[in-house]
Amino acid sequence: MRHQPLRGSLSRTRTTGRRRTAGLLLTAAALVATAVPAAPALAAPDSTTTASEGRALPYLDPELSTAHRVHDLLGRMTTAEKIGQMTQAERGSVDADPTRITDLNLGSLLSGGGSTPTPNTPEAWADMVDGYQRHALATRLHIPLLYGVDSVHGHGNLAGATIFPHNIGMGATRDPRLVAEEAHITATETRATGPQWVFAPCVCVARDDRWGRTYESFGEDPALVQRMESAIDGFQGTREKDLTRSDRVLATVKHYAGDGDTTYGTSTTGDYTIDRGTTITSHQRFAAVDLAPYVTAVQVHDVGSVMPSYSSVQWTDVPGSQPVKMSASKELLTDVLKRKIGFEGFLISDWDAVTQLPGDFATQVRTSVNAGMDMFMQPYNAAQFEQTLTAEVAAGRVPMSRIDDAVSRILRAKFQLGLFEHPFTDRSHIGTIGSPAHRAVARRAVAASQVLLKNDHRTLPLKPSQRIYVAGVNADDLGNQAGGWTVTWQGQSGNTAFPGTTLLQGIRQQAKDVTYSADATAPTAGHDVGIVVVGETPYAEGVGDVGTGGHTLNLSATDRANIDRVCSAIRTCVVLDVAGRPQIITDQLPQTDAFVMSWLPGSEGAGVADVLFGKRPFTGKLPVSWPRSEAQEPVNIGDAHYDPLFRYGYGLTTGR
Ligand code: GLC
Repeated sequence: MRHQPLRGSLSRTRTTGRRRTAGLLLTAAALVATAVPAAPALAAPDSTTTASEGRALPYLDPELSTAHRVHDLLGRMTTAEKIGQMTQAERGSVDADPTRITDLNLGSLLSGGGSTPTPNTPEAWADMVDGYQRHALATRLHIPLLYGVDSVHGHGNLAGATIFPHNIGMGATRDPRLVAEEAHITATETRATGPQWVFAPCVCVARDDRWGRTYESFGEDPALVQRMESAIDGFQGTREKDLTRSDRVLATVKHYAGDGDTTYGTSTTGDYTIDRGTTITSHQRFAAVDLAPYVTAVQVHDVGSVMPSYSSVQWTDVPGSQPVKMSASKELLTDVLKRKIGFEGFLISDWDAVTQLPGDFATQVRTSVNAGMDMFMQPYNAAQFEQTLTAEVAAGRVPMSRIDDAVSRILRAKFQLGLFEHPFTDRSHIGTIGSPAHRAVARRAVAASQVLLKNDHRTLPLKPSQRIYVAGVNADDLGNQAGGWTVTWQGQSGNTAFPGTTLLQGIRQQAKDVTYSADATAPTAGHDVGIVVVGETPYAEGVGDVGTGGHTLNLSATDRANIDRVCSAIRTCVVLDVAGRPQIITDQLPQTDAFVMSWLPGSEGAGVADVLFGKRPFTGKLPVSWPRSEAQEPVNIGDAHYDPLFRYGYGLTTGR
């Protein structure tokens, strides 16, 4: 469990940007890498020269290549300055005394989920990040901060940002261009408020819907996830030339690898059941299912950072194999990802992830650094981390060549982002945050994400003249329709801290005669159509695991009662499911005339009404298989005995 007072919470310089897919086939043999000697340590630092000598210093000359600038700066850094660059703290741990940023030579800060300035406005964000930046620039070599944030469906931490459907809904759109457009808008709204780095997209392949992070996945098919990696292009543009722009950010693919492919019941964290568990698999299958998205993220989309997973991997094709945490796996972090796949960006650990490794803190730190981790998300123990790693380097248990490799990767990103020339927030796009134009794209994404799973008697599209009865809390709750990672880490029912439209408001924009009764107690007589909105309340990470905190795939008793009441009383009955994953609807389906999966639409709930009333056609397709029962999980396309309620890729269409 994570205990924190405040929750929140690449040398490609000479290549032409993205690499063509090297056609790398990761066979089982290929994954067992042959050792390659690390890069030689660079010249001892010349710590007498300081940045105060002005532009004369090569690393401060933007006309020089990134490789040259990295080499020059690295050669000037002390061990303390290098280890500082490898350290990321949560903003909450320095906010009271930002001089700690300078004292600790911190390379990065993050806002965890819900870790926001007060007031939570775009200007306050930019002022906050720029304030921290000033303290980073007060260090001897004036190395600017990287600021990271979880913009996983829009700049979700920011009240007023455009909030898009979570990834599972975007996977249902099957539209890489739309996904890229979403990411570009998200990059614009994020960078305009200060953060230059997002911990997104999750390229997790969700194989068991009992996982609380299923909604963060584009789907169960790695090929679909790869298609949706257009998100990386939306975030970064072309890394070499666009990252300095105020509408682009450094992207992070996560969580490397197999986070969505763990076995139920193997979780090693608190009362989680599957999140942060163990992926029990062969090298061959791991390469095909879990690793494939990372090959394309690196070789096609040139992603700038990768976040290793909390989860572990246990090899079925290696006799006696025991679970190994991803953050400790040199085979997978260095031999496979960096050497075989060719990743030249940097690895950022997950929140305090090293403390989940075996051994004391020194062992945990040493193991993860030597495995290939480059930057460490140490929300509240940055000083301790730095002291520990310094001691490990001094004792010769972590080679300086590994430190230099990590720091070079981090500095390369900072140069590519243009932070040495423009360390402070470019606020030129701040006025576009939550703009009608951005919301229009999100509304279009909501419509495209809707999956029509049943439509008897051509019930849909509805007519504006029909007298409509709407029931269910999820018809009129922005917080529930946005889900986790929205203003707060876990998200929040009844959240009104951000603007948007609920499903009900969308229905009321399209039909004249609408009755709303959250608990379906209002009289049903005299209505032509009953709409019952069922679904989940918000959660994030393992908190949403089935079997944790009462979470289940089954419909709640209230939702079942609402369906029974409305569908037995009104001739035509439509059920909408606002949830982060398929829910068990098998027994209720016969009572309905039409059934729509709405996923977690975000702020623009009116997009659901657009397809309900035929303003836009239904085009969405299931990104995950729909189970007949909770016990049927995991159920995935390609299973030997595949018998879901609705198949992967299923979705009815309606004409305009
Ligand atoms: C969390 C999540 C990760 C997120 C990070 C920072 O634990 O696992 O997805 O990016 O912390 O908030």
